Amino acid sequence: MATRYYSFVVAVHLTLMNILFGMVVGAAAPASRGPIEANDKDLIQVALNLEFLETEFFLNGALGRGLDSIEPEMAAGGPPPTGASKANLDHTTYRIIEEFGYQEIGHLRAIVTTVGGFARPQIDLSRHNFANIFDQAVGYKLTPPFDPYSNTVNYLLASYVIPYVGLVGYVGTIPNLVNCTSRSLVAGLLGVESGQDAVIRTLLYERADQIVVPYKMTVAEFTDRISALRNRLGMRGNKDEGLRVPRRLGAENRTDSNILSANANSLSYSRTPPEILRIVYGTGSENKPGGFFPNGGNGAVAKRFLAAL
Ligand SMILES: *[C@@H]1O[C@H](CO)[C@@H](O)[C@H](O)[C@H]1NC(C)=O
Ligand SMILES: *[C@@H]1O[C@H](CO)[C@@H](O)[C@H](O)[C@H]1NC(C)=O
Repeated sequence: MATRYYSFVVAVHLTLMNILFGMVVGAAAPASRGPIEANDKDLIQVALNLEFLETEFFLNGALGRGLDSIEPEMAAGGPPPTGASKANLDHTTYRIIEEFGYQEIGHLRAIVTTVGGFARPQIDLSRHNFANIFDQAVGYKLTPPFDPYSNTVNYLLASYVIPYVGLVGYVGTIPNLVNCTSRSLVAGLLGVESGQDAVIRTLLYERADQIVVPYKMTVAEFTDRISALRNRLGMRGNKDEGLRVPRRLGAENRTDSNILSANANSLSYSRTPPEILRIVYGTGSENKPGGFFPNGGNGAVAKRFLAAL
């Protein structure tokens, strides 16, 4: 069977923007580096970074302890996350997040056993990091700073920030995979990831008009601002929508409710590895680490972009 490669062609370029031509990603890199190939393993390992992030956020949020307390060998020697905390959750949300946390361990195991893994990257789950993201989203400094762990609504809003990015990444990954084992793995990951996103969005939708105390903004407004921030960071147009939208973005142009974020035919949006990295780094650049990954992601693709800085 012929192997197609998703190839990263080195390009000398003058701007921070990388140009995407079908399967060819023009990456910022010194001209001396030869082209590198991103095979199924490399593409799936981009997502492994996000799965580590979700594992730690959900397990710590529900249980107050993370991967190291359950399956330490899965971290493969990577450092524990910083700033993670048990969240003050109502009972239903606690049960949901606990389940999500355990599901993420399964996702890590599935990826590692199918394509191989790497050491857990440094992950920043501090209040400070979330407060920065929320400040960036609203466009001013929230006072007091946003605390993801203080109550159920805040934790759900913080969760809104995470699985959706994994979901759109998986949608973007599947068409580029050659091997049916890889495709079947990612289809399975996508199913549960989108389920998690749907549950989080539904719980938030029930609270859409609630004010996020002590700020003068509703839950729906926060989701709108966070989605807009991700669209800005991703730099590839509208692929992320809050819980309320103008009708032209609703299902069949007939709803302003938007429990699921999807395109004109209600298909999931998709994102490329550079878009995903720009968002989770919070820097708008796949070359510049930050946000949840202060030292950047692991795996060939993320490393390649970091080396290009
Ligand atoms: C597909 O990937 C699996 C797991 O990485 C590997 O065992 C298998 O040999 C691959 N199949 C082909 C046809 O490359
Ligand atoms: C919804 O509106 C857009 C333009 O905003 C249009 O392109 C699209 O065809 C419309 N969809 C339906 C189902 O009417």
